[in-house]
Amino acid sequence: MPMIPLSVMEEIKARSPIEDVVSRYVSLKRAGSNLTASCPFHSERTPSFVVFPATQSFYCFGCGAGGDVISFLMRIENLEYPDAVRELAERCGVSIPESGGHEEQGVSRKRLYELNREAARFYRDNLFDEKKGAAARRYLAERGLTSAIVKRFGLGFAPDDFSMSDTMRAKGFTDDELVAAFLCKRSERTGRPYDLFRGRVMFPIIDTSGRVIAFGGRVMGDGVPKYLNSSDTPVFKKSRNLFALNYAKSSSAEEMILCEGYMDVIALHAAGVENAVATLGTALTDEQARIIAKYTKRVVLCYDSDDAGQRADSRALELLGAVGLDVRVLKLKGAKDPDEFIKKFGVDAFRDALSGSSSKFRYTMDKVLSKYDVSSDEDKIRAMREINEYIAGFGSEVEREIYIGQASDKLGISRDSIKNDVSLIIRKKRRSDKRSEAVEIARDAAGFGDRVNRDKLTHLRSASCEETVLGMLAAYPEYIKEVSSGGALSLSPEDFTTEFGRRAFETMLRIYGETGGFDIALLSAELTQDEVSRITKLAVSRDKLDNGHEVFAENVRALKDEKRKQQSKTDDAFEAIMRLREKNQAENENEE
Ligand code: UTP
Ligand code: MN
Repeated sequence: MPMIPLSVMEEIKARSPIEDVVSRYVSLKRAGSNLTASCPFHSERTPSFVVFPATQSFYCFGCGAGGDVISFLMRIENLEYPDAVRELAERCGVSIPESGGHEEQGVSRKRLYELNREAARFYRDNLFDEKKGAAARRYLAERGLTSAIVKRFGLGFAPDDFSMSDTMRAKGFTDDELVAAFLCKRSERTGRPYDLFRGRVMFPIIDTSGRVIAFGGRVMGDGVPKYLNSSDTPVFKKSRNLFALNYAKSSSAEEMILCEGYMDVIALHAAGVENAVATLGTALTDEQARIIAKYTKRVVLCYDSDDAGQRADSRALELLGAVGLDVRVLKLKGAKDPDEFIKKFGVDAFRDALSGSSSKFRYTMDKVLSKYDVSSDEDKIRAMREINEYIAGFGSEVEREIYIGQASDKLGISRDSIKNDVSLIIRKKRRSDKRSEAVEIARDAAGFGDRVNRDKLTHLRSASCEETVLGMLAAYPEYIKEVSSGGALSLSPEDFTTEFGRRAFETMLRIYGETGGFDIALLSAELTQDEVSRITKLAVSRDKLDNGHEVFAENVRALKDEKRKQQSKTDDAFEAIMRLREKNQAENENEE
């Protein structure tokens, strides 16, 4: 994508206040002139994510993510820079001029949504086609699905030929679009795209806005892979979507049921349990946990009862707990998954099991106890220690009280002694937290492990002046003009010592040269997200200085001095080497 004209970028940003865009994803609370929230980019209990309306930027003091509205969208929607700009432009109705001659490389998201909808319609029509869909309809009927539920989920059938892509081409969709949507793959021999889903029952994946974004396709009977799923596309990120969330989000139940399989979810919905969702053929992700937390306070994990399902439980428990959800685990007995359970025992049995699902704490306690032989005192002490450690990990005193009570009942140990142990663990943990925090701060100050500016450790003083200067250039674009117009404060990339500083400055100059201004958004096209975050942090912390220009000038001078010192050090070293050489040469000549 060629550089977007600054005027267009400004128009997009003017119509997309960062506070509005961000509040679609997290709930912002006012704090003075800024807004805060729990950071959507890392798990935390106390909010350290701040939106600065004055500078239209955000920064998380916890994880260091930062930037402007574009970098926010890139991170939260997992988009590349041009896609984020396009998306935002689309949302606010600004059209981006396509530069002449340059063939549009990316395909538009809007077209992909249309293509997916048309493909879903094609698959559905096939399923209901008297002849073509007969076998698939029989398969679904054998699995107990009525035509009402098949329609509700928009299921379809991909015939075992290449008619989907032919039909889509006839509707005007291009090969590039078919490939980008993961509906087709290019043949290695001919380069021509062919249908990926063939001879499969199709499950459309629908987002919370009701758009078809991807597909899962199941073979009828045996065959591998059992399910073929769309890979990520410009409109689909596996890790950020859940099957049936479009329905579950508006179900009136106060909890959500998380299953492993498409068929489990469909069976549950068919039986009237409409708050069930499933991941899309992968383990639960941190992002999915956060999405669930947007819609509910409580989750019941209802994974398959096989080993794999049970192993997935612990990880999912952790992720869901980390975003503040109350999680319970439902273990179904006598069936391998919810689908089979309902078929065998009926939905009432399922609802009974649901009300008896155990809390995360009971589940963990049972798991610990099963590792030990509690009739032996030593084992009992070990088990108790492990459980106490776990209780101590809860931030809320009320929660700890409840669990202490449960553990005391279960193990026949007095509440008071459990409580004492737990407090001891907490105190110890606080001390070591403080210590590691101190280490962290010292390290940060020394630039240890600074992944963004790798030269910081070896050039501390330079790095610190450079950071101040970069931050102020980003906060006050008029300074870019000043340093590039050859006056007393003129600055060139060669004046920078660290590689990051030089590259960031070069990029700023280039943006200024091409657009006549500066906007952090334009940095996202050239620098990594971490680098943009760093510059935002620097800009944010440099904002609103009274003696701003003085500080700026001082740092520009110091930055150049540092470079000169570096330079003379190298010059000195160079001279020393040359002198040594001459001396050696002279000696050699003498010997001859
Ligand atoms: P299951 O094998 O438990 O499938 O995998 P299921 O949903 O119960 O399907 P049926 O009842 O056999 O038809 C659980 C989920 O794992 C993913 C799918 O999302 C499936 O729903 N999966 C499974 C795949 O993505 N690919 C596979 O080959 C198998
Ligand atoms: Mn199943």
